[in-house]
Amino acid sequence: MTSPTAWTPLFPLAELAPGARRVHRVPGGRLAVFRLDDGDVFAIDDVCPHEGYPLSEGVLRGDTVTCSWHAFRFALRDGASAAGRGGAAPGRPSAPSPCA
Ligand code: FES
Repeated sequence: MTSPTAWTPLFPLAELAPGARRVHRVPGGRLAVFRLDDGDVFAIDDVCPHEGYPLSEGVLRGDTVTCSWHAFRFALRDGASAAGRGGAAPGRPSAPSPCA
């Protein structure tokens, strides 16, 4: 997935309640869009960089999503990752970005 060169509307913000997530298909993949409890919205690649599980199916706590497969954690605000069960942090998911 490449970095965007312009904003692309995905859907009306009112369709995503605080604490909810949604998958949106884009050319070349899927975005996992999360709306935090504070109302901030972030989009990341829906493919976990560890072994490919959909991050949209992970557990959202605060501003961190934990992959449901091996529990690696990803900070939505900056894309930083932390190790899960039995391994080093896999790196950042593509395109962590705030949404306007
Ligand atoms: S596939 Fe996500 S932590 Fe392994």
